[in-house]
Amino acid sequence: MTIGFFDSGIGGLSVLAESFRRLPAQNYLYMADTLHVPYGTKSEEDVKAFVLESIEAMMGEGIDALVVACNTATSIAVEELRTLYSIPVVGMEPAVKPAVEMNRATGKRVLVFATPLTLQLPKYYALVSRVDDRGIVDSLPMPELVRYCEDLQFDKRIMEDYFRAKLSPFDLDDYGIVVLGCTHYPFYTDTLRGMLPPHIRIVDGNAGTVKRLAALLHRFGIAGDAKGSGNVRFMCSGGDPAYIDKMRTALELIRGNAIETEDVL
Ligand code: DGL
Repeated sequence: MTIGFFDSGIGGLSVLAESFRRLPAQNYLYMADTLHVPYGTKSEEDVKAFVLESIEAMMGEGIDALVVACNTATSIAVEELRTLYSIPVVGMEPAVKPAVEMNRATGKRVLVFATPLTLQLPKYYALVSRVDDRGIVDSLPMPELVRYCEDLQFDKRIMEDYFRAKLSPFDLDDYGIVVLGCTHYPFYTDTLRGMLPPHIRIVDGNAGTVKRLAALLHRFGIAGDAKGSGNVRFMCSGGDPAYIDKMRTALELIRGNAIETEDVL
């Protein structure tokens, strides 16, 4: 029994790290589409083709469940993947709904960080229209952050300068929650925690996604097959061994980090 995790790059490792915590006895296959990362600045048509090709390669390795650990890829391809394959498929979307609910009592606004592509797709527009009944959700594309993350740029000073510049148009007193709507971004939760005002909560969809995965494994009757030891196999579209090393380093990093994950769903 193997659970596949897919992302354009190393971002999905933040979701995999959460899965290790909750489902430590599973075996995992993690794939990054290194030939095409970043997705968030490309066209919908291109990204769809990249995702379908990558998942086909993962299916060839024999996976029993799939987590599309990428908000951008989910928005574009999750429905099609569910029609193509009979295994359980878990997707991700920015945790806007729980954030709006959590903020109901405070009267504060919600700020969603995501890739430009996620924010411009109909799925995101539909999500916000459905749940944002008070018009409190603002969205901020952060395309550079995926690049920084892929370069393992975690220098506190450089990243704080970057976030300060991005956040300068916003009055942070007005906000109660920041939603990390891209799986690369939780690599910067600690940095953000250190610089955002303490009243702002930081949420991502990782814990909720793994909860859904666990429930689906039960529903499909395959949860009990967990005989693994939490080992992970890596693959990437470029087949570059240096990138595989990078994935290992990044996974250790994110597992070692005290990532603030909220059980938001
Ligand atoms: N990690 C991905 C996401 O959750 C996409 C990053 C990218 O390739 O632009 O949206």
